[in-house]
Amino acid sequence: MAIPFLLAPMAEISHRAFRELVEGFGGCTEYFTEMTSAAGLLSGGPFEAWYLDGGPRPEKIVYQLEGASAEKIAAAAAVLDRLPCAGIDINMGCPAPLIRKAGAGAAWMASIDGAGNLVARVRKSTKKRLSVKIRAGFTGDFEYLLRFCRRLEEEGTELITLHPRTAGEKLRRKARWDYVYHLRKELRVPVAGNGDISDAEELAKRAAFDAGNGARGGLMTGRAAVREPWIFARARRLEAGTELEAGTLSRERAFPAEAESPPVEETGLRFLDLLARHQPPEFHLSRARRFFGYFCDNLAWANYVKNLINREEGLAGIERVWRRHFEEHPEERAGKYFRALSSFSSGSLPTSP
Ligand SMILES: Cc1cc2nc3c(=O)[nH]c(=O)nc-3n(C[C@H](O)[C@H](O)[C@H](O)COP(=O)(O)O)c2cc1C
Repeated sequence: MAIPFLLAPMAEISHRAFRELVEGFGGCTEYFTEMTSAAGLLSGGPFEAWYLDGGPRPEKIVYQLEGASAEKIAAAAAVLDRLPCAGIDINMGCPAPLIRKAGAGAAWMASIDGAGNLVARVRKSTKKRLSVKIRAGFTGDFEYLLRFCRRLEEEGTELITLHPRTAGEKLRRKARWDYVYHLRKELRVPVAGNGDISDAEELAKRAAFDAGNGARGGLMTGRAAVREPWIFARARRLEAGTELEAGTLSRERAFPAEAESPPVEETGLRFLDLLARHQPPEFHLSRARRFFGYFCDNLAWANYVKNLINREEGLAGIERVWRRHFEEHPEERAGKYFRALSSFSSGSLPTSP
């Protein structure tokens, strides 16, 4: 069975418009939604319907809940239980000060009992697959992390995603993938690994490694999927290349001639169109800026274009900036990233166990 490829939950990014874009390139196994406030969902805020939109593939959706109250998270899970989806996830990893100070996100990792009781409670309110996304705690103490995860497992968590950085590290330092591999050895539940997967090559290599080791938890990708919404499809092709070449990733097989240049300009335009169709106007600007903040990395002129986009006050202005850039620099249509691929080689896994 193929190693599951999971789209990471990312606030202001993992929404329907972005999923439509990824799905258009071939999709992934499961789409985690951006974190949704349990309290907001229960109070029926004006934007909740947008957060609950599980399109275009509701059966692949994993709704992520965020909150500080076990009672509210359990009640929100009961609401989500009635929707078609692949599962419900609890956010125990978000290090953002506002979230943590409120007692939500990574704050749950401070107490094994608190987190255990939360899972026990949510477990009773849903039959969907229940998962938890965590970090490596506050100090990186592996023994504590293991006790914490064992308790989650005992209380009925069916999948744990580990982003192996401490809460204080935010996105600094390198993700400690050895924690993922050690945790997998110790737990009965599958563990998905997440953090710093840089491109389709790395995703394919990690998938081949996991398949070889019988690891079932899957691989979760965040920022690289925004830079390359085609990453999952390309990694699958690389995996096929791996089989054909008996262990060596073959660039020729994975990147057939017709797909040599990703449609960078067209993808940006398509995203703007999807955003207008699948998100409320109040969200357009923040979400467009978030997306292009990563997607512009396909361009040699990345920072210049990001700045121009950030100065715009609407989708029409962003579209003008985007189109003008390719009129002035047609060589950018193929994307910086893919020109760099000529240097591709099948090196060893970064941070292999
Ligand atoms: C813009 C942004 C928003 C994020 N929002 C969430 C979130 O809502 N819930 C969550 O569990 N993690 C969130 N994360 C963390 C990611 O899910 C992921 O763990 C992290 O980006 C590391 O993976 P990557 O290196 O593949 O990006 C967010 C990360 C980014 C960059």
